[in-house]
Amino acid sequence: MASNFIAETTPDAPHIVGICGSLSADSATRRVLVLALEAAQRAGATTQLLDLRELHLPFAASNFDPAAFPDAARFNQLLRQSDGQIWATPEYHGSYSGALKNALDLGYFEEYEGKVVALLGTAGGQVGALSALSHLRGVARQLHAWVLPSQVSIARASGAFDQNGHLRDEKLAQSVEKLGQELAKWALLHRQSHGK
Ligand SMILES: Cc1cc2nc3c(=O)[nH]c(=O)nc-3n(C[C@H](O)[C@H](O)[C@H](O)COP(=O)(O)O)c2cc1C
Repeated sequence: MASNFIAETTPDAPHIVGICGSLSADSATRRVLVLALEAAQRAGATTQLLDLRELHLPFAASNFDPAAFPDAARFNQLLRQSDGQIWATPEYHGSYSGALKNALDLGYFEEYEGKVVALLGTAGGQVGALSALSHLRGVARQLHAWVLPSQVSIARASGAFDQNGHLRDEKLAQSVEKLGQELAKWALLHRQSHGK
């Protein structure tokens, strides 16, 4: 299972962290993110869920000092230790959430450059979270992260899960599984290519 803030790094496994960009209590985005992290674990990765609800993060500013905000310093440290990351967001007004934007703005190249990133999003409408995910690709490019071509967008997210927390749509469930697998694979290859 994905676990919060428990570092379980091992030398032979890629380490994947997932940022949940929703602050909702019963978040559809968090549910899908956990499924993707579990898939990455089945593919041999160690994983951590970074839940922005649990962190006291400041608003980003150019003179931001992580040392003054222990949660921000820890958050960035966990990102630096990762080989791969999942950026998960709800679609908000045609883009990704402000909470995720602020969290990403607290880091820089040290936290993101060279990391392999998988994107997933949820949306209330039938179009899904495609705008949010496209905008995140631009952010990842700016930070020199390597984004997987595959991504997962869950449309009409409030009805997407059954009472056991599984995705009702089998094809979507397979997409989430594949996203976790691909991220584990490419994060490991990327780390090995850097001799680590
Ligand atoms: C402020 C806000 C803006 C939203 N904007 C959109 C939108 O532009 N398109 C859409 O399909 N759904 C939109 N939604 C619905 C959310 O994307 C949807 O409920 C999502 O699954 C919520 O994820 P969560 O449960 O992880 O918070 C919006 C919801 C909120 C609260």
